[in-house]
Amino acid sequence: MRILVCGGAGYIGSHTCVALLERGHDVVIGDNFSNSSPKVLARLQRITGVPVACERVDLRNRLALIRLLLRHRFDAVIHFAALKAVGDSCKRPLEYFQNNISGTINLLQAMQAANIHRLVFSSSATVYGDPEAVPVQEGARLQVTNPYGRTKLVVEQLIGDLCHSQPSFHVANLRYFNPVGAHPSGLIGEDPAGIPNNLMPYICRVAAGRSRRLSIFGGDYPTPDGTGVRDYIHVTDLAQAHVDALEYLADNGRSLTVNLGTGRGVSVLELVRAFEDASGRKVPYEIVERRAGDVAQVWADPSLARRLLGWRAQLDVDAMCRDAWRWQFMNPDGYSGRVAGTGRRPARGFAPTNGATSPLRI
Ligand code: NAD
Ligand code: UD1
Repeated sequence: MRILVCGGAGYIGSHTCVALLERGHDVVIGDNFSNSSPKVLARLQRITGVPVACERVDLRNRLALIRLLLRHRFDAVIHFAALKAVGDSCKRPLEYFQNNISGTINLLQAMQAANIHRLVFSSSATVYGDPEAVPVQEGARLQVTNPYGRTKLVVEQLIGDLCHSQPSFHVANLRYFNPVGAHPSGLIGEDPAGIPNNLMPYICRVAAGRSRRLSIFGGDYPTPDGTGVRDYIHVTDLAQAHVDALEYLADNGRSLTVNLGTGRGVSVLELVRAFEDASGRKVPYEIVERRAGDVAQVWADPSLARRLLGWRAQLDVDAMCRDAWRWQFMNPDGYSGRVAGTGRRPARGFAPTNGATSPLRI
């Protein structure tokens, strides 16, 4: 298939491009690079051996989108392009509504104009808010606690209405739990702007000596060790689920909504210890007040994805930590720096995997 990957230069999008290309699909990235770097393109080529087509486009520009979709003959669209910082969304909700909701409406209109009827949408476990029970199933009550979450829920709902009105339109809503890790080559990974809000990038920052210690938000939750429990999922497992979802849409001609997680809850302290083991670095921490808006524990029931897509997460927390650390170690400045690799002793747990057998330069 020929796939438009909106937001394909970003963290999850870039890993999904690798999975799509390795599966033999044809990929065009559409991105405005508001939270990513064009440097990812050369790295994707280095990993896959295939030059990746990319068009700079902003989802808020409907005409540009229509032109892009009419210029190519896409079989489907994967839609990652969104603003995603919860705290930021509380400060400037209108920007989030415009980018994530209006941008998606523009994309859907462009798809209609170009007669494209298959969409994979990046949704989030955030649509469950504070769930009544874990593991969370897809039929759980939906509730949101912040403007970012609202954009995900609204988009799921408006896509649902479109599917009702136009039965030939098929969508895979993929509700991600907590994506972490990086491609095992160390060439692509998560490159948060500024100080990270999410746990794994912050742990990496502390392990690299760029912050003194991790603040653990709350040690008094009703969880086994008192710290928050989440369902961390390796980004390459997540990427594979997009390929499976696309093929499901093409083969079955039906829409679906599925959780993407491992089905296993991991506490903050467990993740810190796993990271220390994988990296050989200490991660000093202190336990501080709970973060406003956090929930005690959320993990997925991923069995529907298994039943419908034949997909299940393969990689464990050790692999997530090892790959996150490899990316951090090799790219201390993210995409804005050079790839480290030659003349340095690799940190523990660094045996190159997945064919990355030589020093990596780009
Ligand atoms: P990311 O910021 O790394 O990637 C998003 C990409 O979309 C970036 O390359 C950005 O430049 C682009 N983009 C944003 N707005 C755009 C616009 N108007 N026009 C064109 N391009 C635009 O984020 P990510 O972590 O890869 O997340 C991908 C998707 O998955 C997002 O929709 C996010 O909400 C969702 N999601 C992410 C997580 C997570 O923890 N990373 C969890 C659940 C859901
Ligand atoms: C957050 C978002 C969620 C989004 C998800 C994407 C909030 C309230 N929720 O979820 O909407 O979909 O990111 O991955 O922001 N923690 C620390 N110290 C830190 C950072 C985090 O102790 O410096 C803890 C948190 O309290 C939580 C766990 O680590 O228990 C995971 O946090 P995080 O990575 O931010 O993800 P979520 O809160 O699950």
